[in-house]
Amino acid sequence: MQMAMGSIGVFDSGVGGLTVVRALRAALPAEPILYLGDTARFPYGSKSPATVLRYARGNARFLVERGVKLLLIACNTASAFALDTLRSELEVPVLGAVVPGAEEAVACSRRRRIGVLGTIGTVQSGSYARAIHALAPEAAVAAQACPLLVPLAEEGWTNGDVPRLVVERYLGELHGSDPEIDTLVLGCTHYPLLKGAIAEAGERLFGRPLWMVDSAGAMARAARAALSQRNLLADGQGSLGCFVTDRSRFAEVGGRLFGGPLADVEQVDLG
Ligand code: DGL
Repeated sequence: MQMAMGSIGVFDSGVGGLTVVRALRAALPAEPILYLGDTARFPYGSKSPATVLRYARGNARFLVERGVKLLLIACNTASAFALDTLRSELEVPVLGAVVPGAEEAVACSRRRRIGVLGTIGTVQSGSYARAIHALAPEAAVAAQACPLLVPLAEEGWTNGDVPRLVVERYLGELHGSDPEIDTLVLGCTHYPLLKGAIAEAGERLFGRPLWMVDSAGAMARAARAALSQRNLLADGQGSLGCFVTDRSRFAEVGGRLFGGPLADVEQVDLG
């Protein structure tokens, strides 16, 4: 793999962070990007905070050793459990998924009634509620864990009866917690693939369209702002190199989340 110095380093538990890479490529086409998917240890969403932190440290070290200028934790679960530690330990700027999503949710929500969908870990961490309350202390935040949405997105089951029933079940729970929600945060990097099904079910259950905040788009905008503030924007051709800890199905499933073929993929052992 060609090593572009001064790349944006992006890591996730597996393929989900490729939705962030897709948004990054659209927002910053001149940037070289190095992606690390920790596919061998996927999923993070059901693991303990200590385990997720240990994995995130190893992923960050791998990318920092390759000279990245900005590190993106393109995994909401790892952002919830590791962002503060990585920021205090690393010299490169580090962006997580939670704060950009929370900022966009607060900007969108007129009623200050915000719903958050995420993995079990992200929801249990309370990280979205903390980030939203830091910006809007009066906001009401209801969070719902949606563990079945990740496998649906990975299998490409994003339309039809099965995702509709699953999404309705989760949004029904959220509606029970707060029927006045006007904004919904897709707090997991897989969920942008199910945006259509989630928007439709939200409109049916809540009786009006909900603002949808996609953490992939919010992260790409935050990355552009971070690079621009530091005068670190690239003006070259742009490139994408992918590392994985297990190759199995990465090109097929990852290509679906990225929205195109993934040419440059190398398997690595993080020990
Ligand atoms: N990428 C993870 C996230 O955004 C979801 C998949 C997992 O459980 O590892 O939280």
